[in-house]
Amino acid sequence: MGDKPERRVAVFGAGYIGLVTGACFAELGHRVVVRDIDPEKVRLLRAGDVPIYEPGLGDLIARNKERLSFTLDLEEALDGAEVAYVCVDTPPSASGDADLSRVWSVVRSLAGAKDLKAVVVKSTVPVGTGSRVRAVLDESGLGHVGYASNPEFTAEGTAVHDFLHPDRVVVGASDETVARLVADLHRGVEGPVVTMDVRSAEMVKLASNALLATKISFINEIATLCEKTGADVTEVAHAVGLDHRLGPHFLRAGIGWGGSCFPKDSEALRQLASNTGYHLQLLSAVIDVNNLQKRRAIQQLNDELGTLAGARVALLGLTFKPGTDDMREAPSTVLASRLLAEGAEVRCWDPMARPGAAEPWASTTRHPTPELAMAGADAAIVVTEWPQLKEVDWAAVAGAMRRPVLYDGRNLLDPAAMRALGFTYMGVGRP
Ligand code: UDX
Repeated sequence: MGDKPERRVAVFGAGYIGLVTGACFAELGHRVVVRDIDPEKVRLLRAGDVPIYEPGLGDLIARNKERLSFTLDLEEALDGAEVAYVCVDTPPSASGDADLSRVWSVVRSLAGAKDLKAVVVKSTVPVGTGSRVRAVLDESGLGHVGYASNPEFTAEGTAVHDFLHPDRVVVGASDETVARLVADLHRGVEGPVVTMDVRSAEMVKLASNALLATKISFINEIATLCEKTGADVTEVAHAVGLDHRLGPHFLRAGIGWGGSCFPKDSEALRQLASNTGYHLQLLSAVIDVNNLQKRRAIQQLNDELGTLAGARVALLGLTFKPGTDDMREAPSTVLASRLLAEGAEVRCWDPMARPGAAEPWASTTRHPTPELAMAGADAAIVVTEWPQLKEVDWAAVAGAMRRPVLYDGRNLLDPAAMRALGFTYMGVGRP
């Protein structure tokens, strides 16, 4: 790797994406400064702590500390920087469009960066944002600086691996020099680099997430039909996925998708379409099915228990998926709110989540083990498929619950085995 050009990269935003991007570029041999405006985050990172839970990230940061630093200071970040990577978050605005204010504040702050050769946006943005960034750069005296879109496809929990071994690296650029520079930054990454125009690259990200969400909502609707017809969705999904044209991934029926990307990006894509006067019908249904999925679970539990008022319900797992501490748009939040609204008592267990003191969590209790959360409960819901739940002594739990009713929202457990232990077992799309 001796011929590898080492670049100086300023990464803006020390969230999930910025930290993974910064640490991985340092691992690839570049000099990276990560800049964030949150003093506490920067303080933690400088002290060698990682403010989020992402497997492998702490080791990667520690291993590359010679080439990786963290700062609050804009000038320090831009000093000598050749590439500015924008990795700030783009949360939904009041209208459902992506809120780009953080992107603009970074782009505007770049004026005067002497060594800058390229600005790259990794944050998920509406199609057309690149042209607007280009205009701001031109106005800021950075007309000579190139622009590229380099969307991220890393999944939380496997982000470091996904970055270094991607299915593809997408680079959207208006000229070949910038495209080559961004592609070269990725030298050492095991995966093909696909270059295209900026707008197409912006669309790839939104379309990929929308199609993944579509697969899940599709199998969730089939699951509902399986319940009504006596079929087993896990068998159906397995056999459907063996068709290589369809593939086995993202066909796990469950309580619905959440996280920092799917909910926000699917809504942003829908609004983007609406803004052009087109109504994305399929995507709208995909979002509706996902919302329904959580409400259906509560309804089914209500039918089983007769009423949820006064019922004690354990939520097993709070994060939107296992392997992360992220609670953004987690199905657990809707489940807890709905249960509380019906008058239930909500008892929670999760090995990583920090739900905070806001509602609905303020009105729930937290327990250190799944067994303690379920002790004396009338029902339990598997919300997140944490592997720890496989290790639970379910026979003992069946005896310790007031009513052994189990809603397996991730089809994690064996229905026959659970029924043999005395549980009233309900899965998603399983007879
Ligand atoms: C996703 C994309 O995978 C990634 O490419 C993009 O960059 C960001 O969004 P992430 O949000 O980390 O990554 O999680 P992912 O593993 O994709 O799961 C998303 C949600 O779908 C989770 O709530 C998960 O539980 C759910 N899911 C996933 C299902 O319900 N069924 C499945 O078969 C797969």
